[in-house]
Amino acid sequence: APKSICTLHINDKEYQSDNFTNATPKIISYLGRNLHLQKGHPLSNVRQRIVDYFYKSFTHRGNPTFSVYDNLSPIVSVKQNFDDLLIPLDHPSRAKSDCYYLNKETLFRAHMTAHQSELLHAGLDNFLMIGDVYRRDEIDSTHFPVFHQVDAVRSQRKEELFVDHPDLQIFEPIFDPQYPEAFTNSTTDAHKQSCHTLEATKLMENQLKTHLLGLVQTLFGNDIRYRWVEAYFPFTHPSWELEIYYENQWMEVLGCGIVRNEILARAGPNNSIAYAFGLGLERLAMALYKIPDIRLMWSNDSGFLNQFNNKDVNAKITYKPVSIYPQCVNDISFWLPNNITVDTFINNDFYDLVRDIGGDIIEQVKLKDKFIHPKTKKHSLCYTIVYRHLERTLTKAEVNAIHKEIEKAITDSYDVVIR
Ligand code: PHE
Repeated sequence: APKSICTLHINDKEYQSDNFTNATPKIISYLGRNLHLQKGHPLSNVRQRIVDYFYKSFTHRGNPTFSVYDNLSPIVSVKQNFDDLLIPLDHPSRAKSDCYYLNKETLFRAHMTAHQSELLHAGLDNFLMIGDVYRRDEIDSTHFPVFHQVDAVRSQRKEELFVDHPDLQIFEPIFDPQYPEAFTNSTTDAHKQSCHTLEATKLMENQLKTHLLGLVQTLFGNDIRYRWVEAYFPFTHPSWELEIYYENQWMEVLGCGIVRNEILARAGPNNSIAYAFGLGLERLAMALYKIPDIRLMWSNDSGFLNQFNNKDVNAKITYKPVSIYPQCVNDISFWLPNNITVDTFINNDFYDLVRDIGGDIIEQVKLKDKFIHPKTKKHSLCYTIVYRHLERTLTKAEVNAIHKEIEKAITDSYDVVIR
């Protein structure tokens, strides 16, 4: 949809819009809610337990090894979110269809890793970054455009990593850490980066997996079923994901790996190896407390919040639905204009439009059908919208009014014709 140039004012700062701007007023309205810091909130309880785990497990002369940053601004530069992390220019995660941009240089961070380089640059070596992240995605009970992550970096110098083996090295002899630019670090070997020794990488991998498994067992108990899956991230190598078995299926809870040495070298430290990870608080909280719908996290209803409030953060709590209100299902179909096909139409644009109008009563939006008329060759899409209020029964009239509004908005923005 064409938007005219304007200035966005957010927290006393100005952002000039351009053809990248796609952050909606709805998204901007989530800024500052800081659910991860709201006392007694399930996300805050899980955050507290994770921080406690890292404080307790790692101390240096009686002080916690990790420092915690949970109040960093979610508005970041493209450099912070992507460039500093070696994310290629053509990587799909940069697409307008996946992120909320304020303009071509500025976006709502898509992951907490966006702060990794600046904190390394500031001289930190062991730290946690906790906050809200923003991604354009599908709409269902486990996806919401705003969610929360805990990211971490743990660095080790040779003396710490090899306490018992002063003869071992972090770097291969052909790599001179004083002149990292003189060496092209490669990731073609699945087991390690070419600058690192296998011993250093394996020890770090072992620490990483032990620490993260310890965390998950602290949260879910020692009997939790888990598995490590090989993964790829542009900023770590090697990389893994940890999955836990929950409600009869494997669920990914975190991504992690050995930080690419180029990132460390550019940001400062040239004598250490580091691991990093990023985990999603919503998934952990939903599994831990059996919260069935991610929208409940945004509820101000005391029937929800009081189940977590004023309790020991370690208390075993199982969410009891206050009551389940009925769904209301309504389809929407439209003919696309000639310049858009069923395959070039951006689903996420439609999802944002539906959310902007329907707000939190939108439970799910599913693409139901793509259709190309055999004679006219006109393209058409059909979506199913599931409406459900979490705290009361919706009336047919109220749903119909919102559905009509969505039809009008999609017609106005995309020149479609409702069928
Ligand atoms: N930033 C990654 C994500 O959001 C997670 C991650 C963090 C992976 C740090 C590796 C290292 O999916």
